[in-house]
Amino acid sequence: MAEIRSVGVVGGGQMGSGIAQLAAVSGLEVWLHDSDSTVLSKARESISSRIQSIVSKGLLSKEKGAEAVRNLKCSSNLEDFRSVDIVIEAIVESEEVKKKLFGQLDNIVKGSAILASNTSSISITRLASATSRPSQVIGMHFMNPPPVMKLVEIIRGADTSDDTFSTTKFLAERFGKMIVCSQDFPGFIVNRILMPMINEAFHALYTGVATKEDIDAGMKLGTNHPMGPLELADHIGLDVCFSIMKVLHAGLGDSKYAPCPLLVQYVDAGRLGRKKGVGVYKYS
Ligand code: CAA
Ligand code: NAD
Repeated sequence: MAEIRSVGVVGGGQMGSGIAQLAAVSGLEVWLHDSDSTVLSKARESISSRIQSIVSKGLLSKEKGAEAVRNLKCSSNLEDFRSVDIVIEAIVESEEVKKKLFGQLDNIVKGSAILASNTSSISITRLASATSRPSQVIGMHFMNPPPVMKLVEIIRGADTSDDTFSTTKFLAERFGKMIVCSQDFPGFIVNRILMPMINEAFHALYTGVATKEDIDAGMKLGTNHPMGPLELADHIGLDVCFSIMKVLHAGLGDSKYAPCPLLVQYVDAGRLGRKKGVGVYKYS
């Protein structure tokens, strides 16, 4: 098993910033990159303020908090990832864009480095095919928000080595997470089950079964979920939900996975959820 001292995170959005926070608080050097420099500076601010809040709640010493903030290095240049031991990719949920990035990273990072993807649904085997190191490519799927949710799903591609698996599992445990392992099929475990439920909630709204408030309250109170499915879709991002449904539909070939027309319409209208201030609900 390889020792991890330095982590690269690509994508500083909701997931990447949370993953970078976990790595920094775990005492690792973290390089965070995003193609959008505004996102990168916002990510630095939000990670620092979340670390301050953990310190002020007494969950981390002042010294460890200051060390965690120092551990975080933001860079607009991927070449800075040369010496990292593992990269965790958390960019847009598009196979084409992810493959391009994996090809670039393969040429930049050292030969021993692992390339992990936080993809919600896309084949790890196919992402690995864009690199010359398929045995060192793996799925490391955090849940949103990463600092809070207890689970990491680990997905081995067709050629992922035992060593890559053990190192990734050990890192997730260092972050304080529980592990489940999934075969490399569309949506893995969690999204194979969660996304059809969310899509069905959109169908219920689309066909007038109930109001959005009643659909959410029904599932929240009736099944003890912390959020209703439409509220959860806004939390995840409607663009992410749509991309995952497309992968399920294409990969599993059953019309039951077709994205609901209302979900598609919201995405077309730019109503992407909480991150845009409007999705199924409006946020001030
Ligand atoms: N980053 C870091 N910490 C966050 C956070 C964020 N984005 N959002 C909330 N928190 C922290 C808060 O600081 C707070 O911490 P303390 O308890 O230490 O004070 C804690 O989480 C609870 O937050 P709040 O009191 O503000 O709100 P809440 O009690 O309503 O909990 C929630 C918020 C944790 C998001 C909760 O509503 C929840 O669990 N919702 C369901 C989330 C879920 O199902 N996620 C998985 C989605 S599926 C997925 O991620 C896979 C995929 O590929 C799409
Ligand atoms: P997001 O839109 O919040 O952030 C994505 C970031 O990636 C953006 O800041 C964007 O500027 C950046 N980016 C896009 N292309 C890039 C590139 N080529 N190079 C560098 N940066 C690039 O998205 P998110 O919700 O954080 O999702 C990121 C990944 O995590 C997706 O694969 C998604 O499926 C997965 N995921 C999302 C959730 C969720 O609930 N949102 C949960 C688990 C996994």
